[in-house]
Amino acid sequence: MEIRSKIALITGANRGLGFEIARQLGKRQIKVLIGARNAAAGQAAVNGLIAEGIDALFILLDITETNSIDKAVRIVTEKFGYLDILVNNAARLPKATDSGLPSQVSQELLLEFLETNFLAQVNVTQSFLPLIKQSTAGRIVNMSSSIGSVTISSEHLHQNGPKPPRIPYAASKAALNMFTVILAKELRQDGIKVNSADPGLTQTDAGGPNAPYTVEQGARPAVWLACLDDDGPTGCFFTHVEEHVVNNPW
Ligand SMILES: NC(=O)c1ccc[n+]([C@@H]2O[C@H](COP(=O)([O-])OP(=O)(O)OC[C@H]3O[C@@H](n4cnc5c(N)ncnc54)[C@H](OP(=O)(O)O)[C@@H]3O)[C@@H](O)[C@H]2O)c1
Repeated sequence: MEIRSKIALITGANRGLGFEIARQLGKRQIKVLIGARNAAAGQAAVNGLIAEGIDALFILLDITETNSIDKAVRIVTEKFGYLDILVNNAARLPKATDSGLPSQVSQELLLEFLETNFLAQVNVTQSFLPLIKQSTAGRIVNMSSSIGSVTISSEHLHQNGPKPPRIPYAASKAALNMFTVILAKELRQDGIKVNSADPGLTQTDAGGPNAPYTVEQGARPAVWLACLDDDGPTGCFFTHVEEHVVNNPW
């Protein structure tokens, strides 16, 4: 019997955590499709991975553009006809200049975050789902954040410690978490596992150089969830503590 290679698509994989998740999956002999909206950056990432002996291919993919998603689906359908792993990693990250107080936040800023971090994730997932259903062990990993945890955010209310997070990013990741749970239930009968991953504050362009975790560490929960066995969890939220992947509260 011919054993077909495992294929993973990682969105926003030209840099940061997406690139590192692709690298770690590639090191496990998984063919990695590098989704990126910038062709030069995407191809440069692929060249770097190939130089490390990884089987990588660039896929032009702007997750907020339905035409771009459709084209990417067509390419993966024609070239492979299935997809084993989808990592919804690309996101709009908060900038220092974003004003995010719930009492003042603009509709425009809320929409911007919800469009990229929630609506686009749903659109990408729905569009690739027919290909994931062709896998014998489909896995969907939504890159979330502890900031999208209502439990963790509500702890700020009772502490004198850190400021509460800004509402646009927090709400968009909380919505993504809800997508994880409800989609996991819908797809359980298909054997497709859907989980959220929290990398922790990580040293990317978004996290900054002083973040506590390296990209190698931050990528760990997503890689673990992408490679779950058939008896692994679904509809759950994971982060990492020291060397271990652990549950995160919703
Ligand atoms: N870093 C952290 O501390 C941290 C903590 C918690 C959760 N996370 C989550 O982890 C994921 C990765 O974060 P990161 O720190 O690696 O972010 P990053 O370094 O800012 O990279 C973001 C990636 O998303 C891509 N992207 C943004 N909008 C896109 C679009 N419309 N279409 C396609 N690609 C798009 C960017 O592409 P361009 O290069 O073209 O801009 C880039 O590749 C995100 O989901 C984030 O919310 C990160």
